[in-house]
Amino acid sequence: MVPIGICDLPHASTAGMATTAKLWSRLSAAQAKKTTPRVVNSSQGARLTIGGKDYLNFCSSHYLGFAEEPRLKQAAQKAIEVHGLGTGYRTLSGTHQLHVDLEAAIAKFKGTEAAVCFTSAYAANASAVQTLLGKEDIVVSDQLNHASIIDAVKVAGVQNKFRYDHSDMGDLEKQLKAANELQKTPKKNGEHPLILVITDGVFSMDGDLAKLPKIVELAKKYDALTMVDDAHGEGVLGAVRVRVRLGLGRGSARCALTLRLTLRLTPTLTLSLSLSLSLSLRLTLSLRLRLSLSLSLTLSRCGRPGGRQPLRAGGRGRHRDR
Ligand SMILES: Cc1ncc(COP(=O)(O)O)c(C=O)c1O
Repeated sequence: MVPIGICDLPHASTAGMATTAKLWSRLSAAQAKKTTPRVVNSSQGARLTIGGKDYLNFCSSHYLGFAEEPRLKQAAQKAIEVHGLGTGYRTLSGTHQLHVDLEAAIAKFKGTEAAVCFTSAYAANASAVQTLLGKEDIVVSDQLNHASIIDAVKVAGVQNKFRYDHSDMGDLEKQLKAANELQKTPKKNGEHPLILVITDGVFSMDGDLAKLPKIVELAKKYDALTMVDDAHGEGVLGAVRVRVRLGLGRGSARCALTLRLTLRLTPTLTLSLSLSLSLSLRLTLSLRLRLSLSLSLTLSRCGRPGGRQPLRAGGRGRHRDR
């Protein structure tokens, strides 16, 4: 067999060969640099081990601590015992009972009629936008939305795109008015285009919150739908959240019950109240009962002066071509 790049090819293919040769030379140069990734040797938590050294982990979306949650680890082991490794590729092998159960649990948690799970938020955004919008529909997007939203709009081929200054409700209204004007012209099928306002719930780079009540109010005023990517807010923020935590220590036989109530007063102001009761039996056999009540007022980081600058270079996409 003769490799196709070496046989006697017409002129056009020779040009192609030169291009591939250039690519190989660039790849070889990159390979010669011997760039190696940082390899994490520990599980994902507040701390990481990299190359035998202990680090605090500030680079994670691991807010809920699921990777180290004993009940989840146990449930995963049990599921592997019963169902094996993986449920198969869903679009090929079909929906598994585990998908159905997971989606029912998520819908219950969200208080919605139903839920659909995807393997990544990137895929979820791409699917949602492509399902809702066609090429002639209209997107109104926050300037600092996550790259996956921007890619989703591109992949859906939506041609009418409006972008508003980050969290600037005056500018959102201006863009919605323009979108609303465009909406008056029917599409080829005679229907009027749908307007979709898309925003991150918690912005992935600065951690500030979208002004959702105002966004929804404006969207309704201009006959638009609102889509929120809540990748960083789910299970972390909410109007009222009550968390009960029961901990049983090992060595010193300690039992603790913590009740935490979090109230979101405004998009930027959170009040949390926690009550904890702990009982510990130490090795000296002394019995200690402690009741503590703590009240904390938390101000979330929002609207930092000059806050449009990225926190780190080459971040997750806000400066990419939109
Ligand atoms: C707001 C937001 N949406 C989507 C994504 C993409 O997530 P995934 O890595 O699950 O595709 C991220 C990733 O950090 C994100 O911050």
